[in-house]
Amino acid sequence: METLENMQKAISSLDPCQLKVLLVTSVGIGGLLCYLALRKKTKNIPVGDGWWRVGEKPLSEDRTIRPFVVETSEEMIQDLHQRINQTRYTESLEDGRFHYGFNSAYLKKVAKYWRHEFDWEKQVRVLNKYPHFKTNIEGLDVHFIHVKPVQRAGQKVLPLMMVHGWPGSFYEFYKILPLLTETEGDFVFEVICPSIPGYGYSEAPHTQGFTCLDAARIFHKLMDRLDFSDYYVQGGDWGAFITCSMALMKPECIRGLHLNMVNAKAGGALSIISLLVGRYLPFLVGFTREDVCRIYPFMQKNVYKILRESGYMHIQATKPDTAGCGLNNSPVGLAAYILEKFSTWTDYKNRDLEDGGLERKFSLDDLLTNIMIYWTTGSIIPSMRFYKENMGANFQKTMDNTTKIHVPTGLAAFPHELLHCPRVWARSRFTDIRSYTYMPRGGHFAAFEEPVLLAQDLLQFVKKVESKRPK
Ligand SMILES: *[C@@H]1O[C@H](CO)[C@@H](O)[C@H](O)[C@H]1NC(C)=O
Ligand SMILES: *[C@@H]1O[C@H](CO)[C@@H](O)[C@H](O)[C@H]1NC(C)=O
Repeated sequence: METLENMQKAISSLDPCQLKVLLVTSVGIGGLLCYLALRKKTKNIPVGDGWWRVGEKPLSEDRTIRPFVVETSEEMIQDLHQRINQTRYTESLEDGRFHYGFNSAYLKKVAKYWRHEFDWEKQVRVLNKYPHFKTNIEGLDVHFIHVKPVQRAGQKVLPLMMVHGWPGSFYEFYKILPLLTETEGDFVFEVICPSIPGYGYSEAPHTQGFTCLDAARIFHKLMDRLDFSDYYVQGGDWGAFITCSMALMKPECIRGLHLNMVNAKAGGALSIISLLVGRYLPFLVGFTREDVCRIYPFMQKNVYKILRESGYMHIQATKPDTAGCGLNNSPVGLAAYILEKFSTWTDYKNRDLEDGGLERKFSLDDLLTNIMIYWTTGSIIPSMRFYKENMGANFQKTMDNTTKIHVPTGLAAFPHELLHCPRVWARSRFTDIRSYTYMPRGGHFAAFEEPVLLAQDLLQFVKKVESKRPK
């Protein structure tokens, strides 16, 4: 009380000039305190800029958006058939199943189907069912499909970008699209599915260093070019890294972020301690029963499995062009390399099956359409290089970036995803989780494998976010 009176006295004894100085200083200090308190919350990562062609960036850019149609030719199909015909197979070992990689007896069946039954012309018509476009951004022709909704009376249209990963493509979203663009509730989506530069019909970078951050910036530029100022984003695999980067770069543009692959950890020693304690006293470290089921036995489900399954990553993150050369010359080799991932990443136990369990969840038509997107565009090498660019010198910026994400987030944890991320860990990176769902079934390629489940989760998440937004 006394100090307050003394302060009042001191202040009243000041002359107007001194008072002004005091006022300015206190406003300054207050502002600084507010800034320090809020700084963490609003920390964005730099947007940056890029140019991915050899030579100088021109002063003006061509912003036109051109319609694009997927085309095929008789020569292309003949060449493909000839190469399939000339494939040299190596007999798989007795009872090898998928343990040594793609089983060659089953590979012959896939090749036979591809050569004699698969109808690429028909699949091209399927691909062209949605309108495709290309537009040049940072020197690259960026491809995307743009699906307008079937809007019912009173429905709000929400823009949504969905980003694929490796070894997938925009085609992974074909089954989920109708479930998002023809809904019945209060809102419906207008969906944009781009191809990552170097994947499918998007031009590959011509210079080194193209990472998730660059893809994120390019996709923001694409949305801006389409006149969207705020939108939802969804992704798994690289798509998850890219959409997270989008949320870090321009959080003001992201209405909500929905992921089916979560990259977050408790952090250093804390992760190890929570993993050690978690098995016996899960509540102490915030694990649920479901987390315990999905994480343990730890060595089998995490360490050994990752060692067995991540060889491709080491190759692609070091010398992608060498192995890629063979794949780009042999369609059957390419199919083995890519489809092996669709087998194990859908369910690790598929390794025990003669046919890798591929047709349990997917049709050969769908799987081969994805392969054809890589084959006909020659994009396997550029798609593999994306690992080197992200995991080399840029590792801390892209793969290991722990910068917090503050936009509304929805997480769908599929049981057969490669690694499980408990909600308590996710909270350390995503500060505004609106929904976290233990999905009942499904693996890494969620949209392709379980479109209905993924759509349901995305819809309930967006409903939550929309209901909390100021009207
Ligand atoms: C493969 O090529 C050989 C030689 O050109 C030809 O006799 C054979 O019919 C072809 N087989 C298939 C399945 O196309
Ligand atoms: C994440 O990446 C951004 C962009 O390069 C960088 O500014 C930031 O420091 C990175 N965060 C961490 C924790 O490495």
